[in-house]
Amino acid sequence: MTVLEQIYEGKAKKVFKTDDPELVLVSYKDDATAFNGLKKGQILGKGAINNRVTNYLMQVLEKEGVPTHFVEEINDRETVVKKVSIVPLEVIIRNISAGSFSKRCGVEEGIVFDEPTIEFSYKNDDLGDPLINAYHAVALKLATWDEIETIKKLAFRVNDVLKAFFKAVNVDLVDFKLEFGKTADGTIVLADEISPDTCRFWDSTTHEKLDKDRFRRDLGGVEDAYAEMMRRILG
Ligand code: TMP
Ligand code: ASP
Repeated sequence: MTVLEQIYEGKAKKVFKTDDPELVLVSYKDDATAFNGLKKGQILGKGAINNRVTNYLMQVLEKEGVPTHFVEEINDRETVVKKVSIVPLEVIIRNISAGSFSKRCGVEEGIVFDEPTIEFSYKNDDLGDPLINAYHAVALKLATWDEIETIKKLAFRVNDVLKAFFKAVNVDLVDFKLEFGKTADGTIVLADEISPDTCRFWDSTTHEKLDKDRFRRDLGGVEDAYAEMMRRILG
């Protein structure tokens, strides 16, 4: 496989064309943004950590029956994935109140829910990724009802698998964001990344934050938190 020209650059990753029309190469950057790009910085070593963590977790999920875009890790920062068209929804699962949920609903962080919740944001930077419901997603033709049903089932399955996985390394999976893609034949697969950028991880004993909230909220120890999560995940 030969890597060809760059086709996309996002806030945290670049995507390159390859000579195989069904595959693209993803390259993870150290760049970090928050609040829709308003806050900018770098987290040294983040690209490599998020690449390795994502690939490890995607393989755990594949074994548990969740189809993903993962194909092959090429090096520290670069991975070959299936070319998909991204469903323009950010799918957020929450097990414990935090972040925008706490703000929107006026409740403290740390309330453990009896059941996980799911919500959708319309993936649109110009609009600041507004919160929408499934009816809005269908009305806007972002997905069909069948696709929404598949996405919901897969997202809750991901939560079941990851919650148990993280519990075993003494981490509470507070919430996380997933993105799904459609392959050429219309199959919905898990795409994007699963990393300290896209999840909230709290140490189960100390409740210390081990994720991007350390960058968003200027808590310090950002690099150490990412490195600690990689150690716990990869063993
Ligand atoms: P929120 O509480 O800010 O809505 O975030 C919920 C989860 O989604 C949290 O784990 C962080 C993740 N997330 C992203 O991955 N990308 C984003 O742009 C935002 C706002 C949140
Ligand atoms: N993706 C968000 C941004 O830059 C960052 C975040 O809060 O995770 O805007």
